[in-house]
Amino acid sequence: MEPNVLHLQDGGGCTLDVQEYEGIYFPKVFSVDVISNFRSMEIRADDVLLSCFPKAGTHWFWEILSQLSARKAENIRDKWKGDMMIECCPQSVLDAAPSPRVLNTHVQFEQLPQQIVEKKCKIVHVLRNPKDLTVSFYNHHRALKDMYNYHGEWKDYLHLFLNGLVDWGSWFDNTLSYIRAKEQNPQLPIQIMYYEDMKQDPVAGVRQLADFLGVEADEELIKGICDKCGFENMKTVASEVGKGLIQDGVPQVFRKGGVGDWKNWFTIAQNEEFDKVYSEKMEGYDLPFKYSI
Ligand code: A3P
Repeated sequence: MEPNVLHLQDGGGCTLDVQEYEGIYFPKVFSVDVISNFRSMEIRADDVLLSCFPKAGTHWFWEILSQLSARKAENIRDKWKGDMMIECCPQSVLDAAPSPRVLNTHVQFEQLPQQIVEKKCKIVHVLRNPKDLTVSFYNHHRALKDMYNYHGEWKDYLHLFLNGLVDWGSWFDNTLSYIRAKEQNPQLPIQIMYYEDMKQDPVAGVRQLADFLGVEADEELIKGICDKCGFENMKTVASEVGKGLIQDGVPQVFRKGGVGDWKNWFTIAQNEEFDKVYSEKMEGYDLPFKYSI
């Protein structure tokens, strides 16, 4: 089946290509066959699901969870985050992966495969302060020309992000879907993590994930995983294995990997606009985002 490609317009009239399937936006290069089937996929009770809105640190946390699951501080080279993404990878590839699998997704809680909830799989949901995330997504959309064909300027980009006119839609809806799911389903194992906390204290963050997964990890393993999952090391490995959102042969996912870059991009007016929309959409939810560390 051919994708239903849309050209979403930013505030200046430049367009960003996505495909629409049952009201959800995905990159146009994703297979319609996979998109239309992933919600009924076969899930194993020991699968771990990493869910993040794009640019919240999916590659980073996938690597940490994969090394923890393997109980080895060694970079995973035979597969990659993108090879275990449920809305992108053919079912046959996911079925062939040995347990325990670390699956990943960007979809909202309500859009997950039914069996994730039925089998009470562990879910790690990562949040990142949405201003750094917006800057990261803008650079992602600009860099991956074959995927998005987007040439817009930063000054016009907020219109897309704040209105959910990007792949996987609204960051606000995505974030609230997991926060509410955790509140409303205390029986489900959902662990919320923050990008900035992991950056600030990776040993504590990796330890927290080990405890959540039920992995017995000594000091050496935890520290080893922190080292192997450090930004520079992961960037080097990505270049060696040729993975990580490749455009013109170069991995694009490892840009800066820090906290607070948004201050170099947002004007005062953009910041005010962002804060206004944030307080409207997130009313009643006081999430502890850190905008600098
Ligand atoms: P920046 O664009 O701000 O640098 P995702 O994997 O969800 O696409 O997220 C990508 C963002 O996570 C990028 O942010 C990238 O640099 C950052 N990132 C990737 N690996 C990282 C690591 N090991 N440590 C910290 N940040 C990392």
